[in-house]
Amino acid sequence: MLKKTVIGNWKMNPVTIKEAKSWFAKAVKLTPAIKQATVVICPPSIYLPILKDSSKKIILGGQNIFWGDTGAFTGEISGEMLYGNGARYVILGHSERRALGENNELINKKVKSALASGLVPILCVGELERREGHTYFDEVKMELGACLKGISKDSIAKVIIAYEPVWAISSTKDRRDATPDDIREMIMFIRKTVSDIYSPELAHKTRVVYGGSVNTRDANDFINNTGADGFLVGKASLDPEKFFEIVKICEASSK
Ligand code: PGA
Repeated sequence: MLKKTVIGNWKMNPVTIKEAKSWFAKAVKLTPAIKQATVVICPPSIYLPILKDSSKKIILGGQNIFWGDTGAFTGEISGEMLYGNGARYVILGHSERRALGENNELINKKVKSALASGLVPILCVGELERREGHTYFDEVKMELGACLKGISKDSIAKVIIAYEPVWAISSTKDRRDATPDDIREMIMFIRKTVSDIYSPELAHKTRVVYGGSVNTRDANDFINNTGADGFLVGKASLDPEKFFEIVKICEASSK
């Protein structure tokens, strides 16, 4: 069985490096028990060089990159820069970035750039709402097709797909809880889409994680009843106790 992957997306938190270091100081006490899961924390990128040697059990990731290598792109950070500062993963196409104007074409360029820089892309897809008529399947299929355009068979197995229904994310106004059924049907659909684009073998190997208000209460149900290979955790990842409780639940399901 594939090791579960649990990714913490800190978003624009915490406000100080002192708090970030304190999170890691607490985490170090909680990580010795981890054997069966891959744990990734994606802090704001300016914290990466300071946190990079904090824990052998926690891999660092970024929350975004620019698609170019170097040059006149004020304010941007390349995949290579992120990698050079300790990141090995990067979240791409998060709905909060899509809301700021990122489209599938841009995200596709970023996925290619991440792979070229040696970073594992965590590609976020997910519908805004669940409308009648099941159009949300088409929405996710379109995102996958466009964001994976030109990604080779050799590279797809390195990509992690994060299914994040926007209506279930903690920061969404009037959000509601996703059910294991909601998640399972979409994860199956994502695998079917990857299988159609690539092959059934590659679809089987591709890691698909779930994100959207994952917490200690429903992690067990979600990991055992949806086919998810792990989680992308936002809010609950800011509390090391809660986050590693979720990791522990994932580990128990890998056995
Ligand atoms: P949440 O965030 O767990 O706070 O809903 C998940 C995400 O936005 O990646």
